[in-house]
Amino acid sequence: MSYDPDEHTSSSFTYISQMGVWWIVLVVAVLTQTASAAVREYHWEVEYKYWSPDCKEGAVMTVNGEFPGPTIKAFAGDTIVVNLTNKLTTEGLVIHWHGIRQFGSPWADGAAGVTQCAINPGETFTYNFTVEKPGTHFYHGHYGMQRSAGLYGSLIVDVAKGKSERLRYDGEFNLLLSDWWHEAIPSQELGLSSKPMRWIGEAQSILINGRGQFNCSLAAQFSNNTSLPMCTFKEGDQCAPQILHVEPNKTYRIRLSSTTALASLNLAVQGHKLVVVEADGNYITPFTTDDIDIYSGESYSVLLTTDQDPSQNYYISVGVRGRKPNTTQALTILNYVTAPASKLPSSPPPVTPRWDDFERSKNFSKKIFSAMGSPSPPKKYRKRLILLNTQNLIDGYTKWAINNVSLVTPATPYLGSVKYNLKLGFNRKSPPRSYRMDYDIMNPPPFPNTTTGNGIYVFPFNVTVDVIIQNANVLKGIVSEIHPWHLHGHDFWVLGYGDGKFKPGIDEKTYNLKNPPLRNTAILYPYGWTAIRFVTDNPGVWFFHCHIEPHLHMGMGVVFAEGLNRIGKVPDEALGCGLTKQFLMNRNRN
Ligand code: C2O
Ligand code: CU
Repeated sequence: MSYDPDEHTSSSFTYISQMGVWWIVLVVAVLTQTASAAVREYHWEVEYKYWSPDCKEGAVMTVNGEFPGPTIKAFAGDTIVVNLTNKLTTEGLVIHWHGIRQFGSPWADGAAGVTQCAINPGETFTYNFTVEKPGTHFYHGHYGMQRSAGLYGSLIVDVAKGKSERLRYDGEFNLLLSDWWHEAIPSQELGLSSKPMRWIGEAQSILINGRGQFNCSLAAQFSNNTSLPMCTFKEGDQCAPQILHVEPNKTYRIRLSSTTALASLNLAVQGHKLVVVEADGNYITPFTTDDIDIYSGESYSVLLTTDQDPSQNYYISVGVRGRKPNTTQALTILNYVTAPASKLPSSPPPVTPRWDDFERSKNFSKKIFSAMGSPSPPKKYRKRLILLNTQNLIDGYTKWAINNVSLVTPATPYLGSVKYNLKLGFNRKSPPRSYRMDYDIMNPPPFPNTTTGNGIYVFPFNVTVDVIIQNANVLKGIVSEIHPWHLHGHDFWVLGYGDGKFKPGIDEKTYNLKNPPLRNTAILYPYGWTAIRFVTDNPGVWFFHCHIEPHLHMGMGVVFAEGLNRIGKVPDEALGCGLTKQFLMNRNRN
């Protein structure tokens, strides 16, 4: 294993002193939390069901027969136990708890091939982890493209019992946003891995809490707005929009998360301002906006005050941005209870901002600052990666590559290979830490060939790491796409964004080191770079990847590992595959 030497020098000493600190932390935690922290245990079965998310029936992955899956609601400090049974007949299964850092439980992160083996059909696997701070999160399948198949739900953590929430609101709503295709997932996967690649295209519909409108509109009466017929729903239809019922002159917290496979979204509430207060489970400096961009992997809370004419209802619109849209805006209704719920709004829904107004998108991202009192980043980094994102070819197959390596996770989960030091589990050579600085990011790659790989970046424990993600032109034509990059196991500070190629030694001067937001997803804009910083304080192996499902499927990810000699017990059940399977069998025999 390529531990950096600096980890070894002081490790035994720091370990002992940290043990002492941990004792104090533990005692304090026990004293302050036993009164309130709860264990929330769930029994979940995942299976396909016929479902009609946008009124057209298809196969949808459900949890306990529900789509989206049940919402987990917990308080900070609670322990979540999910006994997950795979009732799919021919597929493995895992669930990732997106936004939960899994301190001390890296094996419960739910990333197939990274932190655990996929759960076999008929088997049950138990996740057990603590949700240590409040925030709006979600969970989703993380094996193949099971997230696209509808395997997702919300995970909401409120402030610990007995503590008071710093935000003031009278009620709350939870909107989980996703996109939906009529083509079945195995067929989508086949197309992506065919030669030539068959792209999945744009979504047939956008779903709000699993409900959308295909080939019809809730705003058809404004014919200049859409040429689609009016949607008609019957009581209890799976695709009938969820209406938000509100009282006048109150403030509501609306929790938003996006688990889209592809779409970048923009949400607006007709006639109402939104005050953005939370991003990815961290409080931010509140700011007011008419509409909010939200990318796959992100979550936000906005406060909305019902200060408009209480005899009217208002559209909530969710439209596609960032790619040329070919999907109808999803709509639902904000109903003032003082008006009949069936009354349609009296003016057309908000118009989604132009899809390719990237300046507008960047300006939105740049409005997000951490809340006062949030931890600020260390002033310097110890390790740095510069990760070039390119679209490439391997024998005519289209792939995404990072520094010219397209990720294919190995049969043995990394966590098992590093825990038991199984040399053959993956390639121990680090992937490139940067790219050739003469690479022209503004044009298609001159040598589009690339290779697959499964090497990982190993960091010492407790050092500051900077990662610069660098965008480039795609394979054909003059185009560069948006990529929302998500990190498991950490929140990171988003230090800055820039256009063109990142210039080492110069662009660091533009970093925001004062109040950069802490997040778990950062947006990489076309032809630009994004810089993030985090501290390797969470022993484990952590996925860092583009949250666009087909991009990840085509290799757009890397893996970080840290504190490898501090990884605690990993349940054998997580590692019953690949080389770890044989290893554990031998060990348990002796
Ligand atoms: Cu929500 Cu690895 O992602
Ligand atoms: Cu991507």
